[in-house]
Amino acid sequence: MKHFTILLLLCLPVCSTYPLNGGAKKEEDPNLDLLQHYLENYYNLAKDVKQFVRRKDSGPVVKKIQEMQKFLGLEVTGKLDSETLEVMRMPRCGVPDVGDFGTFPSMPKWRKTRLTYRIVNYTLDLPRDAVDSAIEKALKVWEEVTPLTFSRIYEGEADILITFAAREHGDFIPFDGPGMVLAHAFSPGPGINGDAHFDDDEKWTKDTSGTNLFLVAAHELGHSLGLYHSANSEALMYPLYNPFTDLARFRLSQDDVNGIQSLYGPPPASPDDPVVPTESVPPETPAMCDPTLSFDAVSTLRGEILFFKDRYFWRRSLWRPEPELHLISTFWPSLPSHLDAAYEVPSKDTIFIFKGNKFWAIRGTEVQAGYPRDIHTLGFPSIIRKIDAAVSDEEKKTYFFVEDKYWRFDENSQSMEQGFPRLITDDFPGVEPKANAVLQAFGFFYFFSGSSKFEFDPNVRMVTRILKSNYWLCGQRR
Ligand SMILES: *[C@@H]1O[C@H](CO)[C@@H](O)[C@H](O)[C@H]1NC(C)=O
Ligand SMILES: [Zn+2]
Ligand SMILES: [Zn+2]
Repeated sequence: MKHFTILLLLCLPVCSTYPLNGGAKKEEDPNLDLLQHYLENYYNLAKDVKQFVRRKDSGPVVKKIQEMQKFLGLEVTGKLDSETLEVMRMPRCGVPDVGDFGTFPSMPKWRKTRLTYRIVNYTLDLPRDAVDSAIEKALKVWEEVTPLTFSRIYEGEADILITFAAREHGDFIPFDGPGMVLAHAFSPGPGINGDAHFDDDEKWTKDTSGTNLFLVAAHELGHSLGLYHSANSEALMYPLYNPFTDLARFRLSQDDVNGIQSLYGPPPASPDDPVVPTESVPPETPAMCDPTLSFDAVSTLRGEILFFKDRYFWRRSLWRPEPELHLISTFWPSLPSHLDAAYEVPSKDTIFIFKGNKFWAIRGTEVQAGYPRDIHTLGFPSIIRKIDAAVSDEEKKTYFFVEDKYWRFDENSQSMEQGFPRLITDDFPGVEPKANAVLQAFGFFYFFSGSSKFEFDPNVRMVTRILKSNYWLCGQRR
């Protein structure tokens, strides 16, 4: 449930004071109602009416429009232009495109591979067996690329309950009549979680003359299995319905496959599987307990530790028994993979992410406006092309490590300190100079270098322990 924002119809004459396209005042503009609902429902715009009134610059709204345009692959103008309006009127899934702003979203998954489903009731648009086979085919799409299996039951509590309903249907997220929202589904878990609801005010069809049930069901079941929306317009998990899909040649995009396999892994290999040439094999998910595992970057984030590797990252939280593996793109679609460095400034609730000569500032799941920026704006000499690692301490000093040297940056004055760079070995004796990642935690600096992690105590200026890089992910298990 928590991934849903409840639709409150509170748009208001007030939002017509929001200056549109450079300040023209409009009375009761229905486009503004649409905009407000769209941003509230799918982009987590705070339902704080005063924002429209108080803020002369409409900053948060413009930012949200930009975020939406970026996610949906439109030109990022920050304005409610005609292309944006057109896309906002397109039929789509009712699940939000970005997670909850206030809490870093966790991505639940099923803890078993044998799942059950039940078709609770039917639309009158199609014969029952057409509904049955559309659902079956939609489940097959996911079954083929995971170890999951689905069996149908006819009564009682199934993991995935499928219903057709119009308007209010018992979950506080009413459907909206014909068009716009077609369906929604809940992430894995007990009760209503895992369930998929289809708006019975749509005209459901076997082909694409109306709304194609198979296509929408395949998308919704992706949510039932734990996927969020993808910003990749080729992906099944892109939020907009595409009526021009070639059903005869339908297949999952690599983005969908990578997403679902990051949760459940690939299907078990069968002995008569043909040998596939390596180029066409999707990038493998890194193995968390591989003793040779190294990381690209490591950072804290709101009390958790994030370990970045290739296109993935693990979240280690004190509150969850197991680390979680995610695709970077699931949380931050605009970020690259194979990062160089990451660090958090908790007092600003921001993490900074580095790759090559660029860096990004991120809050929760939102990349801040104005990024990426060039690393040389921080004060690095132009010969520096990339940094290896970064970490910020409690005094709001940020250390940037490059090869065998480091720079120190003052987050308060936003400037590089005098007297740097210095040699890493002079100030951090005992650590391996070239670091992949550095983390500050529990009063220590941790230097990640290949598969080793050096625990450095800044008070006594010495290395106190050498551990495996992945010690916090699976050290306790060995
Ligand atoms: C199906 O069941 C749901 C939930 O019980 C209900 O809200 C909806 O009206 C039913 N739909 C049909 C077509 O009977
Ligand atoms: Zn969706
Ligand atoms: Zn519902």
